[in-house]
Amino acid sequence: MAQIFPRWTNQAPTLILVGTLVLGGGGTFGMYWWASPYNTDVGYKPVQPIEYSHKLHAGELGVDCRYCHSYAERSAFAGVPPTATCMNCHTQVKKDSQKLKKLRESWADGKGDKPIEWVRIHKLPDFAFFNHSAHLGVGVGENRAAVGCETCHGRIDTMDVVKQVQPLSMSWCLECHSNPAPNLRPVEQVTAMGWTGDLAWRDKAQHIAGTLNPPGSLSAAQKVLPDGKLATYSTAGCNGCHR
Ligand code: HEC
Ligand code: HEC
Ligand code: HEC
Ligand code: HEC
Ligand code: HEC
Repeated sequence: MAQIFPRWTNQAPTLILVGTLVLGGGGTFGMYWWASPYNTDVGYKPVQPIEYSHKLHAGELGVDCRYCHSYAERSAFAGVPPTATCMNCHTQVKKDSQKLKKLRESWADGKGDKPIEWVRIHKLPDFAFFNHSAHLGVGVGENRAAVGCETCHGRIDTMDVVKQVQPLSMSWCLECHSNPAPNLRPVEQVTAMGWTGDLAWRDKAQHIAGTLNPPGSLSAAQKVLPDGKLATYSTAGCNGCHR
């Protein structure tokens, strides 16, 4: 398949670094970039207060992600469901199970106002801005697409206990922002697990990617000069993610 994104995108880190040094204040960034361990927090898998299993609920039972993470498409946060969502089923299903004792306690007064203290797994530092809804629907009109939950969170439908599979590092964000096409899928497939695109889709995704402008994307900084040549600027758009 033709490569729309030329080889220089491989040099993205270098170009950004040079750009930053030129702009000044890049020292810290340079240190960070080269010294940071790429794999921070991958594999983090804390013990949760209730043995809730995604493999059972999202995998075997096939409950859609948005049934519980209903804010993902509308807001910055995906959110973890309140007890009430679980009780839609568990007032009937396995209602005497020992494993659901804490759930019932949380629900004891019928209002579910004693929330379960789920341990947070994915967490960016406060100085980095991330928005779920901006990723679950990108582009406009015919050029609409999405980044799937699976791309950033892995095969959640096979996990009894959720673990972090991507580093959530700055270089991870920028790698996709510099070449989003392979990570785009039709919006209807946003929560699908194990989805792969056919050739026709891959061509379309290349086209859609060309219409996008994620912060830190070098491909977005190409300009056609008056003589028709293409120039590349390393406008790294730091403030897109550091607001
Ligand atoms: C029946 C409700 C339910 C469904 C359906 C569900 N989840 Fe969850 N999800 C939860 C609960 C409860 C937690 C918090 C406990 C945990 O981490 O297991 C959670 C946690 C997560 C986390 C980790 C959050 C953190 O703390 O960083 C991710 C990522 C996630 N879910 C993604 C998904 C995806 C993707 C799907 C669809 C394939 C999905 N979930 C389907 C209830 C659900
Ligand atoms: C769409 C219905 C539905 C929702 C919503 C739902 N569950 Fe379940 N849950 C089930 C079913 C069905 C089973 C499996 C019953 C079986 O094994 O026969 C189950 C099993 C469980 C079990 C294992 C119980 C045992 O004794 O083996 C736990 C724990 C559990 N669910 C927790 C949760 C939590 C926490 C939530 C909310 C975040 C939740 N469930 C939301 C349908 C649901
Ligand atoms: C482009 C990557 C990306 C995609 C796509 C994505 N997530 Fe996330 N998710 C993240 C990052 C990064 C965080 C940590 C955010 C933070 O700390 O501000 C996160 C955090 C979460 C959390 C923890 C609580 C919260 O609200 O932040 C849940 C739950 C979650 N994601 C579920 C989902 C579900 C469900 C989908 C699909 C509908 C999805 N995510 C799609 C990157 C992604
Ligand atoms: C798998 C691909 C992918 C990953 C990983 C990813 N993004 Fe994005 N991001 C995109 C795409 C595609 C867009 C849409 C650009 C557009 O609409 O023009 C986008 C847009 C954005 C925007 C602009 C939208 C807005 O709300 O202003 C921000 C900010 C952003 N991403 C932050 C992040 C951060 C921070 C991370 C890492 C924690 C990250 N992204 C990881 C693909 C990705
Ligand atoms: C696509 C989003 C994105 C863009 C664009 C971006 N960053 Fe970041 N940056 C992040 C994320 C996410 C982190 C946190 C990574 C982590 O926790 O491992 C981060 C971390 C950093 C840190 C590390 C701070 C510390 O205490 O470790 C510095 C410094 C930084 N960024 C500077 C920059 C500069 C300068 C630019 C512009 C050249 C830039 N960033 C562009 C997402 C972005």
